[in-house]
Amino acid sequence: MTWSKGQREPSTAEADRHPQLVLRGLSKAYQSRGRTSRVLDDVSARIRRGEFVVLLGRSGSGKSTLLNLIGGLDTPSRGTVLVDGRDLFAMSEHERSLWRRRAVGVVFQAYNLIPTLTVAENLRLPLELRGERRSAAAAAAEAQLAEVGLSGFGNAFPDELSGGEQQRVAVARALIHRPALVLADEPTGSLDLDTAQRVLDLLDTLCRRRGMTLIMATHAREVMGLADRVLHIRGGRLVEGTA
Ligand SMILES: Nc1ncnc2c1ncn2[C@@H]1O[C@H](COP(=O)(O)OP(=O)(O)OP(=O)(O)O)[C@@H](O)[C@H]1O
Ligand SMILES: [Mg+2]
Repeated sequence: MTWSKGQREPSTAEADRHPQLVLRGLSKAYQSRGRTSRVLDDVSARIRRGEFVVLLGRSGSGKSTLLNLIGGLDTPSRGTVLVDGRDLFAMSEHERSLWRRRAVGVVFQAYNLIPTLTVAENLRLPLELRGERRSAAAAAAEAQLAEVGLSGFGNAFPDELSGGEQQRVAVARALIHRPALVLADEPTGSLDLDTAQRVLDLLDTLCRRRGMTLIMATHAREVMGLADRVLHIRGGRLVEGTA
């Protein structure tokens, strides 16, 4: 089945008034060796549930910094992030980490699978951390592996898989707990063009199918045709729609 952009857009005035994600006056500066470098400068944006947003910007422009703020992994110097109206940085660190475990899935450039666990164990982990029963987690892992085209790979260890296969497992792991928000930081940066396209299509298709919001930092131009919106980070600011 093909999925067109229109299918998951809850494109109503209601959704615009109540976006899933609001970045409100976000700034991030780092201090190092007595100097302050301002990476993000008063960034604001509204992102609707189910949108696929691509973050572009040259190396060092702040893409990973912004994803880390949205995922609550790092704290802003100023401003905040609202998710479904909840202020991430008004939560305690404990609340924020519970929120992250439940609501966020992350895909990194370097796959980041746990090498001492099998593929199935890697997939079960996010569910078991949330207290799901082992048998339910095992069934979900099997179903999720099938969705990324890797049925039968459950007992393999990550280093027995190709890079593209490992990244498909990482996609499965990011989605298995049905997070509302999927953050992908250069998910195809280590893959050849064909393999990259397959991973992009998979992320796009699965997130659309489940109405998950996908925010992806990338240099890959292939992604332009898939995304609903492009945000460009330039000089610490977010500029809409310029590739
Ligand atoms: N922990 C840190 N301490 C000091 N400076 C940092 C830290 N993390 C990031 N920076 C700086 O912030 C800027 C933005 O970094 P960031 O990793 O967000 O860029 P990026 O757009 O993801 O780059 P790339 O495309 O290379 O991944 C860079 O100048 C970087 O050196
Ligand atoms: Mg980065």
